[in-house]
Amino acid sequence: MTKANFDWPNLDFGYRDTDRNIRFTWRDGSWDDGVLTDDKTIPLHMAATCLHYGQECFEGMKAYEKKDGQVVLFRPDENARRLIRSCEKILMPPVPEAMFLDAVNRVVNENRRFVPPHGTGASLYIRPLMIGTGAEVGVKPASEYMFLIFVTPVGPYFKTGFKPMDLIVEENVDRAAPLGVGDVKVGGNYAASLRAGMPAKAKGYADVVYLDAKEKKYIDECGPANFFAITKDNRYVTPQSPSILPSITNMSLITLAEEMGLRPERRPVPIEEIFEFTEAGCCGTAAVITPIASITWHDRKAVYCADGKPGKNCVELYNKLTAIQTGDQPDPYGWVKTVPEA
Ligand code: PLP
Ligand code: COI
Repeated sequence: MTKANFDWPNLDFGYRDTDRNIRFTWRDGSWDDGVLTDDKTIPLHMAATCLHYGQECFEGMKAYEKKDGQVVLFRPDENARRLIRSCEKILMPPVPEAMFLDAVNRVVNENRRFVPPHGTGASLYIRPLMIGTGAEVGVKPASEYMFLIFVTPVGPYFKTGFKPMDLIVEENVDRAAPLGVGDVKVGGNYAASLRAGMPAKAKGYADVVYLDAKEKKYIDECGPANFFAITKDNRYVTPQSPSILPSITNMSLITLAEEMGLRPERRPVPIEEIFEFTEAGCCGTAAVITPIASITWHDRKAVYCADGKPGKNCVELYNKLTAIQTGDQPDPYGWVKTVPEA
């Protein structure tokens, strides 16, 4: 197989066409067997519930090429389970875990030439999404759905890659409410975040830190990623909140942090604590680990990397995580799954 022709080490996090996507239809109470297609567009009824009432959810995961050429996924079962939670929360029929995993394998197999070569730092981003396609005009769940997965080769989400970035606390915009849908991956949360993220970017920040919507006291998330920080006495601190997305990357970092001798703490994190941390970072599938250089809050600034370099714990966590994801280090946890060749 000849690889597609890209400048792999310099890819940004952008959409690029690949060969095929896979789509399934839910009708009369069950899913069909799915079809692979090279069509990049979707025929959609103008009254589809995804268009009017936001019946949409998605996932984000990555495939990597190992040194030996095998293609692997990182904890795809966790993405399958999170998609089920997202579907259930906005009354869409869940995609069974086995169907999800098989669909991911099928679509990756069809696009193997787009899996970035090992060692380039790029990966194949996998975007499963589910939409209500049935026509309704009243506010109710659709009677038909489409589950689709496309893939696209990507580089780092934040322009800086593994270089520290500056964030600003946004207090005047809530991305999600405590009893809302912030803990699942529905499109509306991202639409709601644009009015915070874009002005921050225009001011030179990479993204925003959100506070909890109820009390405006605790850290929720940073952009489309979870927040974590390291304390002087070697604790790995990450927010607990009903309105943040449970990150699979963060869950994995907690395991790795423990192994490094850091004590994990998942609890509400008051915003004033940013001045006590020694290191801080964002984590997620797209963000991987992106170290935080500084957080601006009102007229104060917490600075973590005065010398522009990531802290040693961020470096170690990043190296451990990416080595497991790309197959460079053994995976003692059973996180990495090989995509069987079709
Ligand atoms: N938080 C938000 C809002 C996200 O969109 C994501 C991305 O998926 C994450 C956190 C990180 O989650 P994960 O590590 O599972 O990709
Ligand atoms: C991911 O990290 O996979 C995400 O879904 C974040 C995305 C909004 C870029």
